[in-house]
Amino acid sequence: MTTTEHLARQEELLALDPQAQLPLDLDSDSLDTPALLIDLDVMESNIVSMADLAKRRGMTLRPHAKSHKSTFIADLQLSNGATGLCLATVGEAEVMWRHGIQDLLLAFPVVGQAKLRRLRPLLDAGALTVVTDSLDVAEGYSALARSVGCQLPVLIEIDSGMHRVGVLPESAGALAAEVDKLPGLQVRGILTHAGQSHQAVDQQGIERVARDEVRAMQRAREALEGQGIQVDIVSAGSTVTTPYLSADDGITEVRPGTYVFNDLRTLSRYSCTPDQLALSMLATVVSRAPGRATLNAGSKSITTARTDEHGHGHLVNRPSSGFRLLSEEHAVLGLATEDEDLQVGQRVRILPIHSCVWMDLQAEVYGTRGGQIVRRIRVDAMRRSL
Ligand SMILES: Cc1ncc(COP(=O)(O)O)c(C=O)c1O
Repeated sequence: MTTTEHLARQEELLALDPQAQLPLDLDSDSLDTPALLIDLDVMESNIVSMADLAKRRGMTLRPHAKSHKSTFIADLQLSNGATGLCLATVGEAEVMWRHGIQDLLLAFPVVGQAKLRRLRPLLDAGALTVVTDSLDVAEGYSALARSVGCQLPVLIEIDSGMHRVGVLPESAGALAAEVDKLPGLQVRGILTHAGQSHQAVDQQGIERVARDEVRAMQRAREALEGQGIQVDIVSAGSTVTTPYLSADDGITEVRPGTYVFNDLRTLSRYSCTPDQLALSMLATVVSRAPGRATLNAGSKSITTARTDEHGHGHLVNRPSSGFRLLSEEHAVLGLATEDEDLQVGQRVRILPIHSCVWMDLQAEVYGTRGGQIVRRIRVDAMRRSL
């Protein structure tokens, strides 16, 4: 560790006293709040079930690590059936690479020298696959691969209905042919993310999104093969759509991320059951009035993510009280009569709407078993958005 890193770490405020002995009760004075907790039994079971599902369906599993940003959790996924990791940023890829993970897919178009040059060591080691939906982005990859003197595997990103990035399936063949001609690049296949599944109103709607995802990938594969390009990798599937995909559809790999913890969004998308929610925020009541309790976890810890069904989250064991207002450090709860027992100083747990953004805001989170903290977990790639 450099001196600067050492100083930065010393100054980092952690919810759990660095000297605390584990295991530790959740009401201990050595634990401050807000503190982010992971139920380890639930997380481990989620990791194993998704690996089993992918295996049964004949697809390889490449979890999206942006959901946890932690090398400890990445190792658990890799030792339980995952073949590699998917990342969203160069910073996340660097963290996982330095940790020793050798098979990384950066599923985001990398634009600009400031980012591209940081990928050199990963290219040099043959650890990286990248994506593109344009010749412009591919030209940047090609210049980098030539300067390193390697062949860089590339996937063509397909728009299967989310309209965020990606080319339409019919245009994928022509682009792939151009990209494949660029020195230093080898097109290995196609990738898509059908994030519009979160807008589906019911379970049939989600299945329809998954069928659209499959059809888009089948059309894109035909378009590439029509240009004489061999398609080895067909990468699709999120937490929401993976249960509807299989190798029989031509999907070779799935990239779910949120499944590792799940959250209230994926619960309302029928992707998990309440006992598969692994993450919760421990917060403290700091103010009380009739019908109102205010917590010390505002938008800077639980974010402003909300759903119509759950508001900004759900209080464990207190389903009738809900979030009335959120400011940066305060969360104001509207209390149901049965929750009037809450007192200043009491701790409550909140379930997340969107677990990935909660993880991104924490330097360290706490693994629990049987209601006690048993492990500190560093979020090594916290805030690595660059
Ligand atoms: C490109 C890509 N792949 C996979 C995923 C994983 O999706 P989820 O977290 O819903 O499983 C995401 C999430 O946004 C993504 O952007």
